[in-house]
Amino acid sequence: MRAFLIVGNKAFTRPFNLNDIPGAGRMDIMCRCVSQALFVSHGIRKDVEVYLFLLGQPDPPKCVLIRGSEVKRLAPDERNIAGHINKALSFDVDENWKEVHSGVYIARKKLEDLLKDLCKEYEVYYMREDGEELSKVTFERPLFVIGDHIGVIKEVEEKILNFAKKIVKVSEISLMAEQCIVIAHYELDKRAKDLKTLKNKDIRLF
Ligand SMILES: C[S@@+](CC[C@H](N)C(=O)[O-])C[C@H]1O[C@@H](n2cnc3c(N)ncnc32)[C@H](O)[C@@H]1O
Repeated sequence: MRAFLIVGNKAFTRPFNLNDIPGAGRMDIMCRCVSQALFVSHGIRKDVEVYLFLLGQPDPPKCVLIRGSEVKRLAPDERNIAGHINKALSFDVDENWKEVHSGVYIARKKLEDLLKDLCKEYEVYYMREDGEELSKVTFERPLFVIGDHIGVIKEVEEKILNFAKKIVKVSEISLMAEQCIVIAHYELDKRAKDLKTLKNKDIRLF
């Protein structure tokens, strides 16, 4: 399994206008991250979970989870993904995950509580430009934490670092969040012990 947690510093926590996805606190970044984390050509990665940690107005924090193994009728385009996030945001939330569509969940979670739960399943890696080279790190069930256009503010970063095994970088230059996801997949796919399993079992073709 692999997971990605993307911090949406300004990403809206209420339904938004699908004709202005960037205007919803750069929800377009969240959507592109979901697309790059889950989709391959004509297929979806079943072994991936994406957590969108939304910190924008008016009702933060909220977290949307999309599971590649369960999600149905999700397409790689931003508008389709935004539609699923939008629907999730229309539900009342509490600290328990609520399934709002096959494989799409929402909850209100404090970051420390979310990471505490995720640490039981995953090793947490924080992606930052000055980390260790990802290509040189060995991973078992990694969860990568990534910032949006703003990055990760200090107060949030301190919480992440309490749970992170390492800080990792994917390049010498600062990339867009979705580009970091693509590179992480590339590195991990190369190392998959059994490429046949990766192709046949971990990917669901349309
Ligand atoms: C667009 S960058 C953030 C830029 C922001 N202006 C800043 O200075 O933090 C978005 C996120 O992608 C990740 N990122 C970008 N480049 C990276 C790199 N070379 N290695 C690892 N992570 C990177 C980091 O998590 C970062 O917060």
